[in-house]
Amino acid sequence: MMKKKSSSAKTKTSHSPRLLVLHGPNLNLLGAREPQHYGAATLEEINLAMALRAEAADVYLESFQTNHEGALIERIHAAKKEGVRYIIINPAAWTHTSVALRDALAATAIPFIEVHLSNIHTRETFRQHSYFSDLALGVITGLGHQGYLLALEYLLNKINTD
Ligand code: DQA
Repeated sequence: MMKKKSSSAKTKTSHSPRLLVLHGPNLNLLGAREPQHYGAATLEEINLAMALRAEAADVYLESFQTNHEGALIERIHAAKKEGVRYIIINPAAWTHTSVALRDALAATAIPFIEVHLSNIHTRETFRQHSYFSDLALGVITGLGHQGYLLALEYLLNKINTD
């Protein structure tokens, strides 16, 4: 039997501006996973809230979660070919480890916002360094699931004024 490697959800038509939301490892467990750090909202709830907001703004938004680093790198490469305008990414644990993922974002040069549910600066020392922040348009950390919606709101506004 084929193992499910990732999940994705899409909204809106292909001629709308495209945004991509990327979720790194273990974020499929949101809701049940360490709620003291990551809150009670599930990934499906977060993705649905973003999809509804994007749809109302006539923007094509796809969400993609994977526990496989190579799959996320390949999704970023594909995003370039698809003409994705902006990315919202929570690289999760890869924030602190992945030069390869950083390089994929640098190579495609798609502007992105880095989001973390928890405030990585108030946690263990190893979480306080990010391989992404210096490349990001901005970083939202510690505002729970609202961080994703705030990032989306910023990008919807930016798309209108670009
Ligand atoms: C996280 C913080 C990371 O340190 C951690 O490995 C995660 C989630 C966050 O959203 O707070 O998986 O990116």
